[in-house]
Amino acid sequence: MAVDLLLGLQWGDEGKGKIVDVLTQKYDVIARFQGGPNAGHTLEFDGIKHVLHTIPSGIFHPSAINVVGNGVVIDPIIFKKEVDELAKYISNIKERLVISRKAHLILPTHRLLDAASEASKGKAKIGSTLKGIGPTYMDKTGRNGLRVGDIELNDFEERYRNLANKHVEMLSHYNVDIQYNLAELESEFFEAIAQLKTFSLIDSEEYLYQAIKAGKKVLAEGAQGSLLDIDFGTYPFVTSSNTTAAGACTGLGVAPCHIGEVFGIFKAYTTRVGSGPFPTELFDEIGEKMTQIGREFGATTGRRRRCGWLDLVALKYAVQISGVTQLMMMKADVLSGFDTIKVCTSYSYQGEEITHLPYNIEEQNVTPIYTEMKGWKQDLTSIKQYEQLPKELLSYIEFLEKNLEVPITLVSVGPDRTQTILR
Ligand code: GDP
Ligand code: IMO
Ligand code: MG
Repeated sequence: MAVDLLLGLQWGDEGKGKIVDVLTQKYDVIARFQGGPNAGHTLEFDGIKHVLHTIPSGIFHPSAINVVGNGVVIDPIIFKKEVDELAKYISNIKERLVISRKAHLILPTHRLLDAASEASKGKAKIGSTLKGIGPTYMDKTGRNGLRVGDIELNDFEERYRNLANKHVEMLSHYNVDIQYNLAELESEFFEAIAQLKTFSLIDSEEYLYQAIKAGKKVLAEGAQGSLLDIDFGTYPFVTSSNTTAAGACTGLGVAPCHIGEVFGIFKAYTTRVGSGPFPTELFDEIGEKMTQIGREFGATTGRRRRCGWLDLVALKYAVQISGVTQLMMMKADVLSGFDTIKVCTSYSYQGEEITHLPYNIEEQNVTPIYTEMKGWKQDLTSIKQYEQLPKELLSYIEFLEKNLEVPITLVSVGPDRTQTILR
């Protein structure tokens, strides 16, 4: 049986959490493959909103096993908070959740290093979520990191101390003032480690191999979005992991030949939180309207998300990099009420019109070229059938499918589980 992938195709926050939750009924295993608590995945059902950071979005379905894969970085403190919050709704979380021994640990000092690095960059800062993601992946690739499996070793505290000491030394080299009380941070950290130890810590690549062999259906859940990918995103304004399809293979130990469908999720417009280029960004009342109607404020940091029209040049690039087989369009309801909908179909780049994503998409290099389409006024939030969507939206969808050469098989018209139209 194949492993299907679900990936964000823009700059994150496309609605991955909602769709993983919707799709989980069709799967036996949901596996997160990269990122960490920089992610905020929102699920809404029965009038309650849940935000998950580390735990896969299949956790509310009693029959699914949720795997935190080796490619994920875990902050035990945030993980503990998530688990404690979920205890209100799920009594047997330990039966539904397993964690890779090879996932790396975010130490309190990783968070401090993240803060110091950002502060030292001044205006050029990445706009990181400050969860310690970059420093933790740096320690992973630098071969200094601590892994979940290490907490089972007798000398874990010593290993921790060696790495934390090194971080404190590194912090002293930054010319910025970061205030911290390490003893307090460590007490919280070790309390959370004690709780993490009580979970099923497994060799998840073996677990997934056996699951696939036994014919189980696996859905891999991505975090962030394709344009935040460390290799293919808008570097350096990216995160520190591979958010594209290949990241699922390395982040779970699943061979490429086992990948089946690749679901690519995108908003009907574009958002971005943090710094970095964004060619179709709107600075006018239309962008403001998108922010307000779409409630575009970060699920992890509460920061206002920048908004703009859909960028098909960037979206096509993301579709290509990951071999997307089905597209899912989110937040179509937010576009109701605009007289005209614009979609960027090419860029003017160094005096030429291009339809591929160039190396440099900063404002001074790229001007988006738009196709204008007629908008619609109708409220979409209670529509259940695809055919009942306004004809202008159907034309928009058809236009996107033609341009991207991939079918749009799901349209989302509201944050709730039930506000999902499958074609
Ligand atoms: P993720 O990181 O990709 O899981 O996305 P986030 O949860 O960070 O952000 C998506 C936001 O949009 C959340 O607040 C969702 O509840 C909300 N959302 C998801 N789908 C829809 C939709 O179709 N319409 C509207 N209005 N909101 C949606
Ligand atoms: P989900 O999974 C949106 C952005 C940050 C910053 C950059 C680097 O909810 O879609 P990092 O904390 O990784 O060092 O930040 O990436 N970023 C996200 N933006 N959604 C996310 O996750 C993000 N995770 C990181 O805003 O610009
Ligand atoms: Mg999010």
